[in-house]
Amino acid sequence: MSKEKILVTSALPYANGPIHLGHLSGAYLPADIYVRYKRLKGADIIYICGSDEHGVPITITADKEGVKPKEIIDRYHTINKEAFEKFGMSFDIYSRTSLPLHHETAKEFFLEFYNRGILKEKKSLQFYDEKVKMFLPDRYVEGTCPNCGNEEARSDECENCGALYNPSELKNPKSKITGQTPVLKETSHWFFPLGDYQSKLEKYINEMNEKYGWKENVLQYCRGWFKDGLKDRAVTRDLDWGVKVPIKNAEGKVIYVWFDAVLGYISATKELSEKSGKKNLWKEYWQNKNLPAGQAGTKYIAFIGKDNVVFHCIVFPAMLMAWNEGNNDKYVLPQNVPANEFLNFEGKKFSKSRNWGIDVIDFLKVFPVDPLRYTLAANLPETRDTDFYWKEFQLRNNSELADILGNFINRTFTFVQKNFDSKVPVNGKPEKIDKEMLKLLEASPSKISACFEKYKIKDGVFEAMDLARACNKYFNDSEPWRTIKSDREKCGTTLNICLQAIFTLAEVFSPVIPFSSEKIFGMLNSKPTGWDDCGKENLKAGHQLNKPEIIFPKIEDEMIEEQTAKLNNERPEANQALASQPAAKKDETITIDDFFKVQLKVAEIIHAEKVEKSDKLMKLKIQLDNEERQIIAGIAKHYSPEELLNKKVVVVANLKTAKLMGLESQGMVLAVEDETGKINVLTVDKSVKNGTRAK
Ligand code: 2FM
Ligand code: ZN
Repeated sequence: MSKEKILVTSALPYANGPIHLGHLSGAYLPADIYVRYKRLKGADIIYICGSDEHGVPITITADKEGVKPKEIIDRYHTINKEAFEKFGMSFDIYSRTSLPLHHETAKEFFLEFYNRGILKEKKSLQFYDEKVKMFLPDRYVEGTCPNCGNEEARSDECENCGALYNPSELKNPKSKITGQTPVLKETSHWFFPLGDYQSKLEKYINEMNEKYGWKENVLQYCRGWFKDGLKDRAVTRDLDWGVKVPIKNAEGKVIYVWFDAVLGYISATKELSEKSGKKNLWKEYWQNKNLPAGQAGTKYIAFIGKDNVVFHCIVFPAMLMAWNEGNNDKYVLPQNVPANEFLNFEGKKFSKSRNWGIDVIDFLKVFPVDPLRYTLAANLPETRDTDFYWKEFQLRNNSELADILGNFINRTFTFVQKNFDSKVPVNGKPEKIDKEMLKLLEASPSKISACFEKYKIKDGVFEAMDLARACNKYFNDSEPWRTIKSDREKCGTTLNICLQAIFTLAEVFSPVIPFSSEKIFGMLNSKPTGWDDCGKENLKAGHQLNKPEIIFPKIEDEMIEEQTAKLNNERPEANQALASQPAAKKDETITIDDFFKVQLKVAEIIHAEKVEKSDKLMKLKIQLDNEERQIIAGIAKHYSPEELLNKKVVVVANLKTAKLMGLESQGMVLAVEDETGKINVLTVDKSVKNGTRAK
């Protein structure tokens, strides 16, 4: 049987603005690390991406600037393609959905469903601006929400309270193009019957989850959709920018952007086929027939951010199922969709208009790329939202890349240069400590693999840095500066093993920091061996090394201060634990759904210590089911660390991470204050399992 094929896609970003760090952490960097790792494993893999060039936001930008949408997409496609290249994204193709090949693909799917009678035509009332003679897409209309009174509500949904309503219910509607009151006019659209696929989709997701372990956050989103019941979805819009609806009497209508965007993965692979001169390449991945009974011959992994879950786990699979039901050439469905949560910037959402955040291109004008890749990778929002902090970036570079990894490489190379003429010394006298180090090197790649295979990229990165830590310890414990004088052969053994370790480190780190890894291999005068062999003794005694260079220069305080000074002055309120609670409005009630947004979970305190220089704060380590977290709680005046140890408490598990006195706090412990002002931490019986959710 031929080798399994792996198809990886990252969400196609809108060509409507520049890529920022939040995008990278969501759908791009984790995928790139995974793909680079898989390539080193020798996998048959392709990695697909491109610009999503349709949709209303693009037409809005174009209108604002008084230019054609084409100008906007050309501009941002070029900017983002370049940003991705500089960031080291190793796509096999970065395509675009404005290409004729993509339009043909989207039309082919539409017609397939139309001709088979799958699409239903329905009439509805929609806002129409008589001045510019056009139907107004939802985002072009603003009015007052019939539910909460929000004056900036869209025509069919309110972002403030989440209410969904018919356009006729919106109060005081205004066209965003002309400011006039639009009229409601009848129009017709084609709907895809998502509801017909609900049970098949549930079965598919359950099966994939059982076999391949889907992420809890992704499953929860899907279950939420299923619980509400899937409904028919309009797949056309009244708009003149997009893929034209390929049937008669559909003038002025285009295919809905999401319906065409997901198909962009397929058309981008077709473009890769054309470019590489292998006509059938796209079919080999998307319609791989080489199937062991009942299984896909292609492993398709779709990397996305959490806002895209419904389209990748529900809409796209349903479309592919519908296609497959009527055709012999069947498409593969995603085997896994490891969606990430969001990365925020210094405690708040990225926002161009509020000057909060930084674009990739601007970042890379000032700082080298690998420290950014490393910082983002070490802090990926895999299970909850995380933040990018300038200070943390500096710290990750200076204290981890430079002081741990860089320092080990540097001290080894300088030592070998000075004492062994830049040649790999002989490993002639291995003792227990040396053999243990070699064992650790050999075991590390598979330990890191185990994380990457489960899309736990952050854990893999942590393991790699842990190996570098162990290497420094080995160097220290072996004291080559002493043995060079007392036992040259023993010293040679130490340095031989340190160089083998640098080889292993260069390779296991290469998916994360590919540019630095290449430099390290240059210094080693060698090439990667492939993942499975990189923990072996790959450098022969006598092998000539090249001149060392500093791989990770330190980032000075001034460089960071310059960046923070550029931000909007308004600093985030990070002092969550000490913040006063907003007063509840009189008689305000919340729905059960509101309550369930708060994840209250049982956790055990496994470590407690007072925060230095603070009389209020206590640093806690807590154990949720499979996860340890750090929480900084304002309870140090009321409890000693010993009193807290092993207590089963209730924590808010999905609270945004905050920094208190420079320490990350990943949640909140529930407590009450009695009349005397003493704080009592809420506890539960010891028999309740960690991670149990309070209801
Ligand atoms: O959220 C977004 O940026 C979308 N443009 C993602 C599309 S993913 C896929 F459908 F192409
Ligand atoms: Zn509302």
